[in-house]
Amino acid sequence: MIEQSLTLPCGHRVANRLCKSAMTEGLADAHDHATAAHQRLYSTWARGGAAIQLSGNIMIDRRYLERSGNVVAEGDSGLPQLRAWAQTVCEGGSQLWAQISHPGRQCPRLVNLTPLAPSEVQLNLGGNFGRPRAATEADIQDIIQRFADTAARVKEAGFDGVQIHSAHGYLLSQFLSPRTNQRQDRWGGSLANRASLLLSVIAAVRARVGPAYPIAVKLNSSDFVKGGFTLDESIQVVLWLNDAGVDLLEVSGGTYEQLEFFKPQAASEIRDSTREREAMFLEYAKSIKAVARMPIMVTGGFRTLAGMEAALAGGHSDMIGLARPFCLDPDFPARMLAGQMARLPVPEDHLVLGQGFWGPNSPSSVMRALNNQAQAGWYYHQIERLGAGLAPEPDVSPLRAMVAHFVKDFGRALRRKFA
Ligand SMILES: Cc1cc2nc3c(=O)[nH]c(=O)nc-3n(C[C@H](O)[C@H](O)[C@H](O)COP(=O)(O)O)c2cc1C
Repeated sequence: MIEQSLTLPCGHRVANRLCKSAMTEGLADAHDHATAAHQRLYSTWARGGAAIQLSGNIMIDRRYLERSGNVVAEGDSGLPQLRAWAQTVCEGGSQLWAQISHPGRQCPRLVNLTPLAPSEVQLNLGGNFGRPRAATEADIQDIIQRFADTAARVKEAGFDGVQIHSAHGYLLSQFLSPRTNQRQDRWGGSLANRASLLLSVIAAVRARVGPAYPIAVKLNSSDFVKGGFTLDESIQVVLWLNDAGVDLLEVSGGTYEQLEFFKPQAASEIRDSTREREAMFLEYAKSIKAVARMPIMVTGGFRTLAGMEAALAGGHSDMIGLARPFCLDPDFPARMLAGQMARLPVPEDHLVLGQGFWGPNSPSSVMRALNNQAQAGWYYHQIERLGAGLAPEPDVSPLRAMVAHFVKDFGRALRRKFA
């Protein structure tokens, strides 16, 4: 099934069932514009032939980034760069979709000391995030407007579709969660109130991009944290999304507090895994699929062709989202679609700094945060190499990659401040 096309509710057709899911690139210039590195990276990925290339977080407001190096599509100054990016990908027949996003409280101090969030609930993670300011009614109206403006801008630039990021603990996901949304007004309290920002954003985006343009939403099946957004709530939100004009629903899970979507993987675990276990959110997606009227894309952990085919054939997912394998073997879909590849590459060892106290399950929250940064840094390193036209470097140590990531992040933040 994997090579079969799919027609979305808006009438747009995608060529096969594979999508490169969003991975933040960190490759923007000091003005937050896309660069030649984006063009090289995505044309490499597009050559593999996955039907959709989803961009990493493209931010709707340059004051609030998920990290420095994010592309921001605010105002028209970066439009030529967005156009050049879309053109290089689409020339080869692939599709480029933009993931549009606001980080809410998950905006690091290096970018903003006072992030904007539903409520003043600070993210305590190694001291990296400031105490947020609770959004006012005017802020919320501005956020809705910015999502719509950004969607219109990426459409104008030639992107084939847009994905609204409402997962992983970013702003829209924070509004959904009673743990981070403690508002007493019409945007907080009941699930209907907590979901109204997401629904307002989708309506505003649809009004700007028209009926034939694909709109996807990335949603958590669960936050996997105590007091957070649950599977039952996710199912109810999907029932509302059924009437909201969503063309593709990507199912994920977790937030910065509980990085379910980003669990370190080891080759040995993947070798031993059964087909049913490899996709982390498939069990949750089955309950979501049972009520969803739009196509579903499950992302997270798919590593074998058999596992992907089983999810498609079982009717549990209509598309397969993949992220980390693209960092190690950027054009694998061509071989997979031709039936010449049954298993995707994963790093030989866990991408961790150590074991016990030094490992990802350390009693110290700082060590846990550092281990996450080591894994992220390792993947960022591969993305930067691909963006520079180089081959991946699987042997780089997570420690080295993490230190390089910190140094570069700091440099990027400084360059932005003085640009
Ligand atoms: C380096 C890296 C960056 C990521 N950036 C984003 C992002 O910008 N937006 C997003 O929705 N998910 C992001 N993710 C999560 C992926 O889209 C995906 O949900 C997750 O990696 C699980 O899929 P996988 O097991 O195939 O890697 C990122 C993952 C990685 C490894």
